[in-house]
Amino acid sequence: MTVTRTFSIIKPDATRRNLTGAIVKMFEDNGLRVVASKRIHMTRAQAEGFYGVHKDRPFFGELVEFMISEPVVVQVLEGEDAMNRNREIMGATNPADAAEGTIRKAHALSIGENTVHGSDSDENAAIEIDFFFNKDEIVG
Ligand code: CMP
Repeated sequence: MTVTRTFSIIKPDATRRNLTGAIVKMFEDNGLRVVASKRIHMTRAQAEGFYGVHKDRPFFGELVEFMISEPVVVQVLEGEDAMNRNREIMGATNPADAAEGTIRKAHALSIGENTVHGSDSDENAAIEIDFFFNKDEIVG
């Protein structure tokens, strides 16, 4: 298996509850390494651009308002098959469906306030990393 990178967001419901460290510990305990990290307050333009693929979904407005409501932590995670590994650690999008031991099972409040975002393919991981990070901000 190859070492790859994926993109993660610790969402406003988590930063609000001071869960950043607890979530990073779950990544680290499960084989992922943080190779870039910054806490930002996303602008509306960033949120609309980042989630542009969902712009026709009924929840788009709610999603954007939530993501700009409070700070988030954007990160690049590295490890063996990082994208799939991260998705296992996060658990299902809807916390009602998330497996025991996952971040969303432990912490998510609802399908919208679901604590973390993770890329859903290696191709999207590269695009999402580029969206938020310059090359010199990623130090493996
Ligand atoms: P995320 O991985 O950040 O990608 C898109 C987000 O849209 C998803 O996590 C959810 O938080 C959110 N989302 C998906 N479905 C719904 C829904 N039915 N209502 C509100 N938010 C949703």
